[in-house]
Amino acid sequence: MCGIVGYVGPRPSQDILLAGLARLEYRGYDSAGVAVIDGDGSLGMRKKAGKLAMLRDSLKDAALPDGNTGIGHTRWATHGGPTDENAHPHLADDDKLALIHNGIIENFASLRDELLADGVSFRSETDTEVAAALLGREYRNNGGDLQGAFRAVVNRLEGAFTLLAMHEEHPGLVVGARRNSPLVIGLGEGENFLGSDVAAFIEHTRKALAIGQDQIVSITPDAVTVTDFAGTPVEAEPFDVSWDAAAAEKGGWSSFMAKEVAEQPEAVANTIRGRIQGDQVIIPELDGLDELFIGINRIIITACGTAAYSALVGKYAIEQWARLPVDVELAHEFRYRDPVIGDDTLVVSISQSGETMDTLMAVKYASERGARTLSICNTQGATIPRESDAVVYTHAGPEVAVASTKAFSAQITALLLLGLHMGRVRGAIEDASVDVAELSALPEKIAKVLESEQEHVTQLAGWMADTRSVLFLGRHVGFPIALEGALKLKEISYIHAEGFAAGELKHGPIALIEPGQPVFVLVPSPRHSALVHSKVVSNIQEIRARGARVIVVAEEGDAAVLPFADEVIRIPLAGAMFEPLLAVVPLQIFAMALATAKGLDVDQPRNLAKSVTVE
Ligand code: M6R
Repeated sequence: MCGIVGYVGPRPSQDILLAGLARLEYRGYDSAGVAVIDGDGSLGMRKKAGKLAMLRDSLKDAALPDGNTGIGHTRWATHGGPTDENAHPHLADDDKLALIHNGIIENFASLRDELLADGVSFRSETDTEVAAALLGREYRNNGGDLQGAFRAVVNRLEGAFTLLAMHEEHPGLVVGARRNSPLVIGLGEGENFLGSDVAAFIEHTRKALAIGQDQIVSITPDAVTVTDFAGTPVEAEPFDVSWDAAAAEKGGWSSFMAKEVAEQPEAVANTIRGRIQGDQVIIPELDGLDELFIGINRIIITACGTAAYSALVGKYAIEQWARLPVDVELAHEFRYRDPVIGDDTLVVSISQSGETMDTLMAVKYASERGARTLSICNTQGATIPRESDAVVYTHAGPEVAVASTKAFSAQITALLLLGLHMGRVRGAIEDASVDVAELSALPEKIAKVLESEQEHVTQLAGWMADTRSVLFLGRHVGFPIALEGALKLKEISYIHAEGFAAGELKHGPIALIEPGQPVFVLVPSPRHSALVHSKVVSNIQEIRARGARVIVVAEEGDAAVLPFADEVIRIPLAGAMFEPLLAVVPLQIFAMALATAKGLDVDQPRNLAKSVTVE
């Protein structure tokens, strides 16, 4: 949930830290802080409640002396509110030592009691300051061995954490550790970096090392050492970062979200690229891994939020093409019951960040019970793919806005690819040529929706800026899109929104309909099923009869909806499994335009962080 960056090298570190934090701010924006060891070897620190801009302003007003070793943090509050005191870094050992943290230290209360009994006093309400104080005490007791003290401390902590620390008596050294929380190393020339993810340092280097669970790293300008928590050296896995720095910048766009919505044709095209051969889908990363799909009798897809809605679309596609039963499980519900899984189960996890704690825990739970695991992920070097037997990367590029858009489209695309790949491997598909052609045509069709509906939907949102509640209805693969449309609206415009399966309407939700209630209805193509189409048209009539303001998303040429719709948003013709990728686009634009009309920050909505790395 928090963003972490560390630097050692020849350059002044403050600007590097602030630029890294700007690219990590999507992870949390309650407060931010930096600590730097200056040229004279003394540690300076500044932290501020509020967005990163508050910290920048404070540094402009009164600069910190700069140095070549530093750590920076942007916070999403867990223990203690978003105040200056609770912001990171936290200091210890007479303010000579600074420490930052992402995660939750579960045994912090008992450690705090122990330290209080030892005469330590605290300035914040955070679990992090406890870790800092523990490190300060250990450092003094062991005669100033920072790495040794750090190792002793991480072994005492329970919970999930990424920690970075430095001490003014050791300029040019930053130590870090991770347990169930992200940390990657960026390798420079005579300089090295640490970051919650590669966005922290892509401006400086594309060479990276992934650190495993329960590992400790020390970086100096010329060396990187990785050990386990016992101090035994381990080999970190190198990788080249495929994202480029420009992709993580806003460019001329009004918001990251606007940019990312517009990037969907590219995100989908990049996710498909290299995975179609002739009229078949062959995912090269799954080459030689057919055993993942043979001998299983069910699939569970697990994820959270938007990723879980993509999973619901995947369920329809995989069941149709691979002829296997698919259940979709919210990751946080999955492992807290006693699900029936074993080596005949394939558990597919979906995560843009690859770090969502609930999803990570679900993957670990599944592996421990003998299930085969495959992840769909957008972030190289992330934990979830490392914990899985196989990974299919989405190639959406960095997604910075908290509201997921292009990653959602890329996730559905990866699931469609996976369904067709699996169907081929299992011999369940005779001819995939029509679906492969549909896949290939998607980027162009998404671009068409963006072009043709942007203005219309933005205008619609402007008219509805005072709306207090919006409902979304869909059937079949339209149902997950209704859920996603409602989530987008909730999270960035703070308007009450609900998505329903259209068939559920008469079982309760229709009671919500009163004159003027806006309802988006996702109408499936009559070409796919005249029956399903006619059912949805009946639903429209039912809500219209009760005064709803009906906004229909329907394919070009579907005239059956015209008599009952107040507004019609058109999408191009597409196969049933491909329609969701077109229908979601106007809903994203609507949420974004409505939030903008209300004067809200669409990239950093209140209370949220992009990557939920705590349970
Ligand atoms: O990084 P992940 O895909 O695992 O994130 C899962 C959800 O937290 C995420 O999709 C969230 O629901 C988004 N804010 C929705 O826009």
